Formats: sequence, structure tokens, C-alpha cells
Amino acid sequence: MKRLNSQLQKDGAPLELILLIRTLLAGCKEISFRVSQGALAGVLGSTLSENVQGETQKKLDVISNQILKDTLRESGYVKAISSEEEDDVVPCNPEGKYLVSFDPLDGSSNTEINSLIGTIFSITHAPQWMDADDPSAFLQPGTQMVAAGYVLYGPSTMLAMTTGRGTHLYTLDKTHGGFLLTHPNIQVPEQTKEFAINASNQRHWETPIQEYIGDLLAGTEGPRGKNYNMRWVAAMVGDIHRVLCRGGIFMYPFDKRNPSIPGKLRLLYEANPMAFLMEQAGGLANTGHGRIMEVMPSEIHQRVPTLLGSKEEVEACLSYYAKHE
Ligand code: AHG
Ligand code: MN
Ligand code: MN
Ligand code: MN
Repeated sequence: MKRLNSQLQKDGAPLELILLIRTLLAGCKEISFRVSQGALAGVLGSTLSENVQGETQKKLDVISNQILKDTLRESGYVKAISSEEEDDVVPCNPEGKYLVSFDPLDGSSNTEINSLIGTIFSITHAPQWMDADDPSAFLQPGTQMVAAGYVLYGPSTMLAMTTGRGTHLYTLDKTHGGFLLTHPNIQVPEQTKEFAINASNQRHWETPIQEYIGDLLAGTEGPRGKNYNMRWVAAMVGDIHRVLCRGGIFMYPFDKRNPSIPGKLRLLYEANPMAFLMEQAGGLANTGHGRIMEVMPSEIHQRVPTLLGSKEEVEACLSYYAKHE
């Protein structure tokens, strides 16, 4: 089976990017090990602190953030990082060629129940003009990403990666510590009968999503003419992995509760990297009003509504938005 290095070379990734990705993944392997120790290593439970988004930080949020921050800072390849668990941009090496944004631990509410969690990341070039502590260089649309991916800490530890030449899935071989290419160039089925949304928020959804989900629930009696199944992992990384593997549509739509917060998921380190992986696998990634990867961020923790998945299903969902434009 092919190793990560050879696939990255085949996809034409420059040496320094390959070295950066390997460094980042060394950090993820350490997180994978800590996560697998669970209660034995005393890593479960919450801290007394909150992150910049007002969420109580789990111990594993803080530990994973520290591991990735230390690893990337020491590497020399990175000019600055932005993270869900850091209020501001963290300056690294002023000579570094890349910027990295990450969600160190996605699905933190799953840590207590030994369920799916992961790490999500995106990488862009660092402009030469930028100072290492200047957040403005992070405010680029997702179309500027040079690589993105996630590591899923599930029954096996898996990596999904793209450098813009397809989306590949790798499995961590824990006997020698390498990621092996197990699912090259995956393609998301264009049609699906599966959707993922947190239905407890239904009363807060906008009209297009109300109507769209209503029609999915109507099954063969409704205009979509088929019976749908629903899944919700409560970790985007788990839901998106399922959609990449067997199709589906994942939604965290706009929420009327707070019009100044246009959705729950964060653009730089959740929506954009997943959008890049989804598009490279033949799927779509939209906010309801445009392509996620074309959204121009105005701050590093910006949130966006997200609709991702099987091409024909996302297009069907978007037709409900078009009706209400
Ligand atoms: P995080 O644990 O990094 O804060 O992200 C959690 C996100 C995402 O992974 C998931 O899809 C969503 O929150 C779950 O939201 P609900 O609590 O509404 O289920
Ligand atoms: Mn969080
Ligand atoms: Mn997350
Ligand atoms: Mn997180």
C-alpha cells in the first residue's frame, strides 16, 4: 500500500509542504495516542476555562491545541497559526512559508462517551509582506488553500487529505506509525437517501431549510419521492467522513436565534477544509447563498452556514433557497 509521502509527491506537492504536513500529522498521531488512553491518562473531563467562542474547554481541547501549537511552532515551516482554542493568531517563524488554521479537537462533547472525534486543518501560503502576528493574511477565501484535511480518531485512525488533486483517505498503521493510502481518489455518490442535521434546532431554521427538510421527511408521499434516513454524530468530522464514504447531505444552517452569528461552524478551520475535501471528491459545499470556499472571511473565528455533500442532493436543497431569493 502506498505511503502518504509518495501520494503527496505524485500530486505534485512541494517538498516544504510535504514536510509541514508530516509535522502536523506527527502531532495528530500524538493526539490519537492520548485520546486512545482515555480515562487511564486522566485526559477526560472539562477545564474551568472558556474559549473565545464562549464554549467550556474540555481537557482534550486544550491538550490537543498545545500539541499542535508546539509541533508547528518548532517546525520552522509555519509563519503563524490560528486555532479554535486560541483567541488570536499565534506567531511562529517569521520566515515560515505557510499559515495553518486548525480545530484541534472536533466533537469535544463526544470525548466523555468514547465516541468519534477528530482534528481538522487547512493550509495556505503566508504572504511575504505579513508580520507573523498579523491576522489579516488569514482572511483569504478558501479557494486559496493549498492543502486541507482531517484526522478521525475512530475505531481506526484515518486521515482525509487533499492538495487539490483529489481527496484521498489513509489509515494509520499503528504497528509502524505511518499513514497508508487505503482509499485513493474517493468519489461522493451524486445521489443519496441520507441526511444529517441537528433537528432539535428546527424552530430556529429559515424557511428554505424548513421546507426542504419537511419534504425529505414526507418520504415517498412527498415531492422527493423517496424515503430518507437520518444520522447525527455531533462531530462534524464523523458526519463528513460518512458522507465522503457513502454519500449524504450534512447541514448546519443559518439559525434565526442570533442574526449576527450566521451558523455554528467556523469558516477557517471547519467549513473551508471540509468544503475543499468535499469538492475534490465530486461533492458540493455551499452556504445556501454561495460556494463556501468563496466566502471572504472578516475575522479568524467567523462562522458560516454549511450545506455539504452529494451533488444532486445539495443542488436540490439549494433550489429551496433559490425559491426564496
Ligand atoms: P467543536 O467540538 O470543535 O466545538 O465542534 C462541534 C461542532 C461540530 O463538530 C458538530 O457538527 C456540531 O458542533 C455539533 O453541534 P450540536 O451540539 O448542535 O449537535
Ligand atoms: Mn469547541
Ligand atoms: Mn469543531
Ligand atoms: Mn474543536
